Amino acid sequence: MPAARPTLIAPSILASDFARLGEEVRAIDAAGCDWVHVDVMDGHFVPNISIGPDVVKALRPHTSKILDVHLMVAPVDPYIEAFAKAGSDVITVHAEAGPHLDRSLQLIRSLGKKAGVSLNPSTPESAVAYVLDRLDLILVMSVNPGFGGQAFIPAMLEKIERLRAMIGDRAIHLEVDGGVTAANAGAVAAAGADVLVAGSAVFKGGAYAANIAAIRAAADGARRAA
Ligand code: DX5
Ligand code: ZN
Repeated sequence: MPAARPTLIAPSILASDFARLGEEVRAIDAAGCDWVHVDVMDGHFVPNISIGPDVVKALRPHTSKILDVHLMVAPVDPYIEAFAKAGSDVITVHAEAGPHLDRSLQLIRSLGKKAGVSLNPSTPESAVAYVLDRLDLILVMSVNPGFGGQAFIPAMLEKIERLRAMIGDRAIHLEVDGGVTAANAGAVAAAGADVLVAGSAVFKGGAYAANIAAIRAAADGARRAA
């Protein structure tokens, strides 16, 4: 893993107070987050419904940090342009969302955005083997997508290691999402992840800065030791 790459913390606003979303985004920005993770759920690809492109557009003026948009949407291609125009920086689609992943990734990059692919827990790393040159980010789901507050699936540590090896020295971020806490951030980072998504572990109790710092310290500590 390129040693120079710092650990990035991306709080998932799914765990924030939706009645005060703009304020919450400003709060995690001020609390030291690196990216803002935005979970888009369509009630079809996943058994939950969250937000659409208009919410991303409304959030854009509240932070200059990276808007890391996770599309749990199928079919996804019809919505990609709307999320690009809304101000997303990274647009991540699921490998399981449809038969034309290569085409979806090309579409994202053609709109001037960073392209990401997400793998559900049961999907093997081989699903990205032939699209590595179309990618800026790989998102490993460490829970079955659709809800925050679930437990981390330990078997994903091996998949993270395998993906880190597949990535080699390509400039591809390896992001992990679901059940990440200060307690397991070290193992996740040591396995090869450089972007850590955390919802409940950042927003619980309201001490955003301390929660972000604790996850970052655990990850950086483990990466230094690795
Ligand atoms: C789940 C989402 C995650 C989730 C993370 O489908 O993709 O981003 O909000 O929340 P925690 O960290 O609470 O598992
Ligand atoms: Zn997510």
